[in-house]
Amino acid sequence: METTLIILKPDAVQRGLMGKIITRFEEKGLQIVGAKMMQISDELAATHYQDHKGKPFYDGLVGFMTSSPVLVMAVRGVGAIAISRSMMGATFGSKADSGTIRGDFGVSNSFNLIHGSDSPEAAQRELGLFFNDGEVLEYERPINKWVYDYAGGNPE
Ligand code: RTP
Ligand code: MG
Repeated sequence: METTLIILKPDAVQRGLMGKIITRFEEKGLQIVGAKMMQISDELAATHYQDHKGKPFYDGLVGFMTSSPVLVMAVRGVGAIAISRSMMGATFGSKADSGTIRGDFGVSNSFNLIHGSDSPEAAQRELGLFFNDGEVLEYERPINKWVYDYAGGNPE
């Protein structure tokens, strides 16, 4: 099982889209194992997006992410990182396919509703930035036996 960091960005919160987006993850079969609202500080945004420092969109990105509260979630499942990225769609709302979160709910390129970790290394780093010890939970989910095929021993 993988755990990934998802952020519902300020535009998703302000536009009242949290519930619809969370529902997509739940209906897909992924497990929400952590969730909280927060206002991201300049320092946290800079650390989170450190790889983009110096790019033309960096200042706007940090300004946007700190402009209003976000919902951060830890989302778990087999292949959760790649599955979440494909559910999000392409970076720019104007280019994202219909059926994806960005494709269905937005048209803007920079106000693109959602962040998801893009690799196992990024997920580990980002979960550590946004969640304190004990805030990402382990709990039994009986429905897993219908979400996954355990015939071979491992969830498939
Ligand atoms: P994210 O990190 O937010 O999940 O998005 P992503 O992986 O799809 O895109 P990434 O390349 O990591 O870019 C981070 C965020 O910066 C803004 N951006 N603007 N104007 C531009 O060329 C541009 N490129 C990126 C977007 O808000 C993107 O989500
Ligand atoms: Mg990214």
